[in-house]
Amino acid sequence: MRLKGKNAIITGGASGIGHATAVRMSDEGAEILICDRNRAKGEEVVKEIEDKGGSAAFFETDVTKESSVKEAVAYAKNSFGSIDILFNNAGVGGDEKKLHEMTELEWERVVDTNLKGVFFGMKHAIPVMMEYGKGAITNTSSVLGFKGKKRVSAYNASKGGIVTLTKNGALEYGRYGIRVNAVGPGVIDTPIVDKWREDKRKWDVVSSANALGRIGKPEEVAEAVVFLSSDQASFITGETLMVDGGGLTF
Ligand SMILES: NC(=O)c1ccc[n+]([C@@H]2O[C@H](COP(=O)([O-])OP(=O)(O)OC[C@H]3O[C@@H](n4cnc5c(N)ncnc54)[C@H](O)[C@@H]3O)[C@@H](O)[C@H]2O)c1
Repeated sequence: MRLKGKNAIITGGASGIGHATAVRMSDEGAEILICDRNRAKGEEVVKEIEDKGGSAAFFETDVTKESSVKEAVAYAKNSFGSIDILFNNAGVGGDEKKLHEMTELEWERVVDTNLKGVFFGMKHAIPVMMEYGKGAITNTSSVLGFKGKKRVSAYNASKGGIVTLTKNGALEYGRYGIRVNAVGPGVIDTPIVDKWREDKRKWDVVSSANALGRIGKPEEVAEAVVFLSSDQASFITGETLMVDGGGLTF
């Protein structure tokens, strides 16, 4: 068990990649706190973990609100004492629009969730990690943090921002025993990509645009997050590990 004796906060843990990671981390021995705005689905994941003999709890959290993230971290600190692992993963896709057609509100919805939410998670968990002199943070970026795609500029900007924010976190807190990394998923089979499936022609292109010629499973991203969160990755920090089937080779 690679995470035995550790605890983990997982934002966006009610669905998709966060859900799969919560289950995998629990299988590896970690105690899990799922922080998500979706209570019903979050509590289902808690039950799934408990039914398998693991330990999990849910805390309703909106990562776009600093007060909400602060409360979630305080809840984790009270429950666990330390915070060993933070997976900053909550995210949304945007409406597909050209940049000049996007409203300020549309921009904010995406950037506040995907990038500001990651900043809030790091800002509030890091002081607790510093108290204990240890911690592993993984942020969810994307292949779209590295390359452009038409009509998703807010999403691209938010995911690119995560890559450099991750490096900053690594630099500023490495000497306190805290590692900060990111994962860069390609197209992964979760509800966030459901709207792309409606257009079959587009989906055929999107779903095979990588070296392996298929989309990924949430469990395949979860494996990378477990590794980065574990002591096996003790000399890895500031990195973004792509989990994209070779999507950036295109
Ligand atoms: N699925 C993909 O193809 C893919 C590719 C690259 C990156 N990603 C990223 O992976 C992460 C997880 O996405 P997913 O694919 O599992 O999608 P998903 O929709 O299945 O899960 C996203 C989760 O985030 C939660 N969430 C959204 N806004 C929130 C908020 N303000 N506060 C708290 N929780 C919030 C949702 O309730 C949901 O449980 C996201 O950051 C996404 O951008 C996904």
